[in-house]
Amino acid sequence: MHFYVMTLFPDMVLSGLRTSILARGMDKELIHVEAYNIRDYADNKHNKVDDYTYGGGAGMLMQAQPIYSCYQAILKVIKEREPDANPRVVYVTPQGSVFSQGMARDFAKDDNIIFLCGHYEGIDERVLEEIVTDYVSIGDYVLTGGELPAMVMIDAVARLVPGVLNNEESAETESFDDGLLEYPQYSRPEVWMEKRVPPVLLSGNHQNVDVWRFQKSLERTKERRPELYDKYVEEHPEQFTPKAIKKRNRILDKIED
Ligand code: ADE
Repeated sequence: MHFYVMTLFPDMVLSGLRTSILARGMDKELIHVEAYNIRDYADNKHNKVDDYTYGGGAGMLMQAQPIYSCYQAILKVIKEREPDANPRVVYVTPQGSVFSQGMARDFAKDDNIIFLCGHYEGIDERVLEEIVTDYVSIGDYVLTGGELPAMVMIDAVARLVPGVLNNEESAETESFDDGLLEYPQYSRPEVWMEKRVPPVLLSGNHQNVDVWRFQKSLERTKERRPELYDKYVEEHPEQFTPKAIKKRNRILDKIED
């Protein structure tokens, strides 16, 4: 899978992503990350990429031309490899839909994704209209630029590409996989600062372990993310019938906590 990042800070993107488990995926050539410096595509001799905003107001705006030329250079590279490609172009912006695990799963189906990172007060709307397919935010707060959000999205998408994580890592049940937060986990020693590992986890009874973990996931989600909990209950009514709850409770009653 190929990720292309249009940015004013290519080193930030590349060094950040290289310093992680993703480097393994790059070495194995399962994922490719290329950062294009928008400044290299400015058609003025000072490589200027920003200018004042029409209508007044504080701050500078990134101009259309360097971004469009940069996009065309990337598109050319993609089309040389895949003539029929029609890549997604994600503008990372606080004015976008909020990124989620579901979106990461969707993006992971693509072979090519282009990210556009903004700076200053934003980008001339006309180039956005011309090239952007998706407007995506990583949350309701404002950062100084789009590089960190692009890196967040690349990390979340790349780890879903088969082979990037080793089997042990990818086989793990994870938060959001099924719409619930992950249950608490423990490793050695059995007792640490007088805190014991829950005995059920040492019992070797897999059915009990599964029921206990499911219950902890439910409790954790209800407490920390009530809106996710409500959605889960709505989407899985079969797990909340009196019979299903009674069955779980019978097992939980047997398990000493
Ligand atoms: N650029 C600045 N803040 C951002 C955010 N929260 N998400 C995506 N892009 C951004």
